[in-house]
Amino acid sequence: MEQLIRGWKGEIVIVRYDREADAWIFIAIYSTRLGPAAGGTRMRTYPSAKAALQDAMLLAKGMAYKYAVPNMPWGGGKCVIAVPETLDKKARLGLLRRYGALVKQLGGMFYTGPDMGTCSEDMDIIAETGAPYIFACTPKAGGSGSSGPYTAIGVFAGIKAACEHLHGDGSLGNKRVLVQGLGNVGGPLVELLLNSGARVLFTEVDESLVKQYRSKFGLEYVPPGAVYDTECDVFSPCAIGGILTPETASKIKCKAIVGGANNQLSSPDVARIMEKRSVLYAPDYVVNVGGAMAILGMETQGWSKERAEEEVALAVRMALKKVLELAREQGITTEEAASRVAEKRLED
Ligand code: PHE
Repeated sequence: MEQLIRGWKGEIVIVRYDREADAWIFIAIYSTRLGPAAGGTRMRTYPSAKAALQDAMLLAKGMAYKYAVPNMPWGGGKCVIAVPETLDKKARLGLLRRYGALVKQLGGMFYTGPDMGTCSEDMDIIAETGAPYIFACTPKAGGSGSSGPYTAIGVFAGIKAACEHLHGDGSLGNKRVLVQGLGNVGGPLVELLLNSGARVLFTEVDESLVKQYRSKFGLEYVPPGAVYDTECDVFSPCAIGGILTPETASKIKCKAIVGGANNQLSSPDVARIMEKRSVLYAPDYVVNVGGAMAILGMETQGWSKERAEEEVALAVRMALKKVLELAREQGITTEEAASRVAEKRLED
């Protein structure tokens, strides 16, 4: 862990081992140049505490770049809570409350909201001890609710912009879109896609969600092992990161990749493999900013829900177009183009 921290280009790492729940809390703050750090709280099991720290650091950098591209006045941070395989409800509640107290102690150094493994109801619990630094609580608790549907609106706008870039027309009628993961983002995204006439395929590891989506919408199910062999127009990863590896990128059978998952590339050079194969890769943080943008807009700028939806769709569309054009002009990968835009803003 010492080596990880030494090698990281971010500002601060806060570590707390929670003995009661046998959980590790890592808050990584990558940059506060554009504003105070804000980012989701991810809760899951990891193979080691080190792996959790590494995830927090990588995700915090992603948040910094995510805010920088559309010029939002926020800094990049993320919290990862690494929990044991079994954590009962009561222990989890206690952990969330102690975590809230930690966020409060930081006094505005880090603001947080939901991410993989946490939801608005969890934010309500965290806010009991952590307010006013907690975003996206439930409407009942005075918050604006889940950020997932707004992330989905941004990803949907990104899918249309990518199709427009490829075909000169952003309509999704009869386009085959394969969504990976039907959680907080993938679920609402499927509905937006169906309403636009797309043909939606999905892959999911949770059996109950598979059943639910098959019977509710009659969607075509792709088993996880067949994802990278399935032909489609757009692949939309909306689950875990690191899924685009040299191996999967070399065989994936889609024309564009546009999804809500954070840190989709196992390493930045994987973008080159996709470029060589003429697969358009929409950099993840360019298209998945919607949740954070909408929640922060509604809860700190007084945006209405409608305004938030419009801002997200417009911001993602403009940013992705800019990145795709820059990549084409400069002969660089879309990932390089996006980091140039973000780094320039961070340096300015
Ligand atoms: N999960 C969001 C993301 O990765 C984080 C977030 C949600 C940040 C809500 C702020 C408010 O972008």
